[in-house]
Amino acid sequence: MVIFDEINDGPGFCLEELAPAELDFVRGLITAQYLDRIGALQHDLVPIARERGIARYHTLPTTFEHGKSWPKAARLLDPKYVTDFARMGFFRRVQAQFGASAAISHGELNWRLVRPNQPGDVGPIHADKWFWDAGYGYGSMPAGFDRFKIWVAVHTEPGANGLCVKPASHRQEWKHHFETKDGVSKPVFDEDPDAIETELLPLAAGGMVMFHDELLHGGVVNRGNTCRVSIELTVLFDRAEAVARAAALRGELALA
Ligand SMILES: [Fe+2]
Repeated sequence: MVIFDEINDGPGFCLEELAPAELDFVRGLITAQYLDRIGALQHDLVPIARERGIARYHTLPTTFEHGKSWPKAARLLDPKYVTDFARMGFFRRVQAQFGASAAISHGELNWRLVRPNQPGDVGPIHADKWFWDAGYGYGSMPAGFDRFKIWVAVHTEPGANGLCVKPASHRQEWKHHFETKDGVSKPVFDEDPDAIETELLPLAAGGMVMFHDELLHGGVVNRGNTCRVSIELTVLFDRAEAVARAAALRGELALA
């Protein structure tokens, strides 16, 4: 599989996965940050939160308001863990195809917690490029570089929660505009989201999807019995190097 071709010319995404030990490691990082935050919000909950695990967060006797308690800053892993992600198998496979200049963006090891049957826990359908265009705190891109996104299932129930995508939507223009709220410019989708047929990716824990920056996607309301936990990262790569390597790889596969 030529990842570059799947993302750019194919459906706009392709699937990869973490090894079991890598999944355990990622779960450990997220759980530690989760328990720290629980401790700050409601200290006496920590033992029971630890015992039940993050996927059963929704069963905790919380007295704080969920919607205001998990800002992005509370869900960003320390950027020092980027080097651990960069050593994992999936990223070595990315670098084997895109070149050694491919790197995980430091700005974002952002995990999310989506409770069962809570429509407010998932955002609207969008393309990540719109957020970059809005200057949404992601910084600027190095010259000659492109990017793609990775979404990793950390705790999921395939078919009941996870990420939905609109295959091949990155090759089409989608109407949107920007609105400024609290000094932050945010993209707003101008088409009927219910008219867009999306596909829920059946990703079990450890599964991941790598997708084009302009692919329409979104979370779905969690119809499972446990919380959905996921983490996202962005890969930056040198476009010219990726194009040349993809062409070489295509040639090798044609000969094989
Ligand atoms: Fe997104």
